[in-house]
Amino acid sequence: MPPIVRAGAAGDAAAICEIYNQGIAERIATFETRLRIPADIAGWFAPGAFPVVVAEEDGKVVGFASSSAYSARKCYSGIREFSIYVDRTARGRGLSKLLLLALSEATIRTGGWKLTSRIFPENVASLEACRAAGFRVVGTHLRHAKLDGAWRDVVTVEKLLHQD
Ligand SMILES: CC(C)(COP(=O)(O)OP(=O)(O)OC[C@H]1O[C@@H](n2cnc3c(N)ncnc32)[C@H](O)[C@@H]1OP(=O)(O)O)[C@@H](O)C(=O)NCCC(=O)NCCS
Repeated sequence: MPPIVRAGAAGDAAAICEIYNQGIAERIATFETRLRIPADIAGWFAPGAFPVVVAEEDGKVVGFASSSAYSARKCYSGIREFSIYVDRTARGRGLSKLLLLALSEATIRTGGWKLTSRIFPENVASLEACRAAGFRVVGTHLRHAKLDGAWRDVVTVEKLLHQD
């Protein structure tokens, strides 16, 4: 069966949590170090929250892309930060491209005009996935924050979704 990509819902919180925690444990995807519980994820689906999309294979959620506000400033309201995580067992099968396309469409539908994220330079899979999905590299922030006590650089990527 081909994968299905759809809008995420509160009922996906446990599956999303498990996949996100893999990424936190791997220490190459995020500065976050606290493992999440499903109740943390359920908050992503509060009324008015930004889009989250999930990929399903054989009825099981195996990946997600989520978005959040880039800034509280009104002028930046259409800029969304995103995260993308695919279960270890489902990587390398093109799911990130489907997820980022679906998230782009959902972002446009909710008034967004740009997706952006920060990626560790060592995270080749993420840099390549973003490139393949039409993102460009904006530049590198040096020593942006600490992960496990060590300063880390991050590469900022963006995809323009402007409709005008
Ligand atoms: C990054 C991640 C989401 C990519 O998802 P994926 O579904 O495995 O990626 P895809 O199969 O859709 O591949 C997309 C493109 O990236 C390339 N790619 C994927 N993994 C790669 C790797 N490890 N090395 C080199 N290129 C890679 C693919 O070849 C493909 O490029 P192409 O279309 O030009 O052939 C996945 O590896 C992941 O979840 N990693 C852990 C969490 C993470 O780092 N998230 C990003 C946080 S910023």
